[in-house]
Amino acid sequence: MTTSTDPTVVGFPLRTPEEPLPLSQYASHRARQGLVLSHLPNGVPIWLVTRHEDVRAVLTHPKISANPDNEGFPNVGETMGVPKQDQIPGWFVGLDSPEHDRFRKVLIPEFTVRRVRELRPAIERTVDERIDAMLAGGDSADLVNDFALPVPSLVISSLLGVPPADRDFFESRTRTLVAIRTSTDEQRATATRELLRYINRLIAIKEKWPGDDLISRLLATGQLTAEELSGVLLLLLIAGHETTANNIGLGVVTLLANPQWIGGERVVEELLRLHSVADMVALRVAVDDVEIAGQRIRKGEGIVPLIAAANHDTEVFGCPHAFDPERSERRHVAFGYGVHQCLGQNLVRVEMEIAYRKLFERIPTLELAVPMNELAFKYDGILFGLHELPVRW
Ligand code: HEM
Repeated sequence: MTTSTDPTVVGFPLRTPEEPLPLSQYASHRARQGLVLSHLPNGVPIWLVTRHEDVRAVLTHPKISANPDNEGFPNVGETMGVPKQDQIPGWFVGLDSPEHDRFRKVLIPEFTVRRVRELRPAIERTVDERIDAMLAGGDSADLVNDFALPVPSLVISSLLGVPPADRDFFESRTRTLVAIRTSTDEQRATATRELLRYINRLIAIKEKWPGDDLISRLLATGQLTAEELSGVLLLLLIAGHETTANNIGLGVVTLLANPQWIGGERVVEELLRLHSVADMVALRVAVDDVEIAGQRIRKGEGIVPLIAAANHDTEVFGCPHAFDPERSERRHVAFGYGVHQCLGQNLVRVEMEIAYRKLFERIPTLELAVPMNELAFKYDGILFGLHELPVRW
């Protein structure tokens, strides 16, 4: 049934220092019938999807595409100054079935719970080394730059089999990519080129001398061309870096404000839901006329399923803004939903669990070095997080 009334047109949910995640706007959109129509900052119209049920419907609809080559795809990142990587072969998050399935099938074995369990010692070592470095530096640090950003990038570099001597190079280039505020377009383009060149060299080495690492195993499947493999590796690197870092930083803030939960078992899952850092990441376009929530969406119209809105939908999560690791409802969509659901989710869970455990065990007096209301949230990016997090002990 299509709604007979014209859709309500609302502003693009831009973040502000007062509301880094525009959750109150989302609540009023959910209360309206159907969907709301909005515009990207560059004026292109888009449908905003804010109910949990509707977000899942969009992300599993066979006539709704994740491919940015389709006319009308909402390039949210581009309008906010994020470089485009989706033209790179192997950038499979931008492919639909059946092309997408080929990549997913060869990668799934690399991210199973079992494979991630094998990575635990390497993750623990990385986390310990970063804490050692912070402690050696005095009695204060910026937890974003000194811990949350390097940890995921170092973990991915060990996953890929980057030799330890090259990890600093790798870490510094990936850091430039996420530093939207402090790096120029030119610097980010150079960092991408350097990373791709490095990855291609690594692939050539592993082709000649295979080891026990992800690149060697992917090469052995014979399913990907060298060019596709290099795009896949760049995607893993970019998809898993700032997302994880932002979760680590925000999680520390939330745990410091709720110390009774430090060490709690179900904390990670609730932090993922509560912060929903990848709010505007799962972008889509209709490739045929479709209907969502009774609203007709025409072929070529852009759709933005808002992850944070779904994860704060009161129909599913009671008191959604509260941090309650014991809540019984666990169907959050922080990792998306459907065929593109985050490939790295098992890895992230382990990384977050180890990061919080080690931080609070080894630095029990850890505290914020500035008042909570002075924290620099990323209200100017597509991912939610913190620019920096001054702490002391
Ligand atoms: C996809 C969130 C960490 C690799 C996604 C999607 C979301 C997401 C929402 C779906 C995108 C869509 O539907 O268009 C997150 C969050 C993370 C995280 C919140 C951290 C807390 C990681 C890590 C890796 C990773 C560590 C890899 C090492 C990927 C890949 C995809 C993806 C490859 C595309 C999957 C596909 O298209 O089949 N992620 N992610 N992510 N993520 Fe993550």
